[in-house]
Amino acid sequence: MGSAHRGSRFVAVYRATSINLSANFMGDLVVPEKPLTFPDELHELVERVRVCTLCELSSGRTNAVPGEGKATSGLMFIGEAPGFNEDRQGRPFVGRSGKLLEKLIAKIPQRREHVYITNVIKCRPPENRDPLPHEVESCWPYLEKQIDLINPRVIVTLGRHALMRFFPEARISRDHGKLLRWRNRIVFPIYHPAAALRSSQFKKALEDDMVKIPEGILASLDDQTTAISVDTDTRESSRITGPSASSGSDNQLNLF
Ligand code: URA
Repeated sequence: MGSAHRGSRFVAVYRATSINLSANFMGDLVVPEKPLTFPDELHELVERVRVCTLCELSSGRTNAVPGEGKATSGLMFIGEAPGFNEDRQGRPFVGRSGKLLEKLIAKIPQRREHVYITNVIKCRPPENRDPLPHEVESCWPYLEKQIDLINPRVIVTLGRHALMRFFPEARISRDHGKLLRWRNRIVFPIYHPAAALRSSQFKKALEDDMVKIPEGILASLDDQTTAISVDTDTRESSRITGPSASSGSDNQLNLF
């Protein structure tokens, strides 16, 4: 027997030999399960998303779209859901919205490959309809685990749905461009690139917000920061008001 892959653990099974084991033990030796470590764990998560059947969106997809980018990036972009092109290619933001997103990322200045890009839900809803609450719930453990593993300093949410996943009471029209605190991270909501493709007003707002991302990164580094706050979600967010406001346990030096 070779190696077996069970759940989130690899279990290596070796054939015992008389050289390294006592004479009365000649069966298969099961080496204790060893937890996967990053980046294997991220890779495994991506593979699990690709075969996920937790909700009915799996039956209509061509490909699930787990996310992609630099696994150790300090900056993570979260969109809403894959669209037509993303479903075809199994990659996030590869259509017109993606082209605009890349241009905006270049303004920071940064490259797409140096950040991590994913979505709140990983499979395309029919006709690009809004994600349903139970679909968002089913996918949340994947997104939550991606955040844990990638450990970004700043999460940039793109559009209303991504923002509301973190701050259910928030309003994108009111709260875009604010530095918010969620758990030990900064969440920075901006408009969705698709909205900017429809309206020059949203495009201007999106461009103006985008260039503030470095400010968010700096705020995440500074324990004394009194960042701009928001009174939206009361459960997991809070005002960033002083020491320990930023990610104390997060020693990531690699900002992007
Ligand atoms: N819109 C999204 O929200 N995500 C994508 O991946 C593409 C378009």
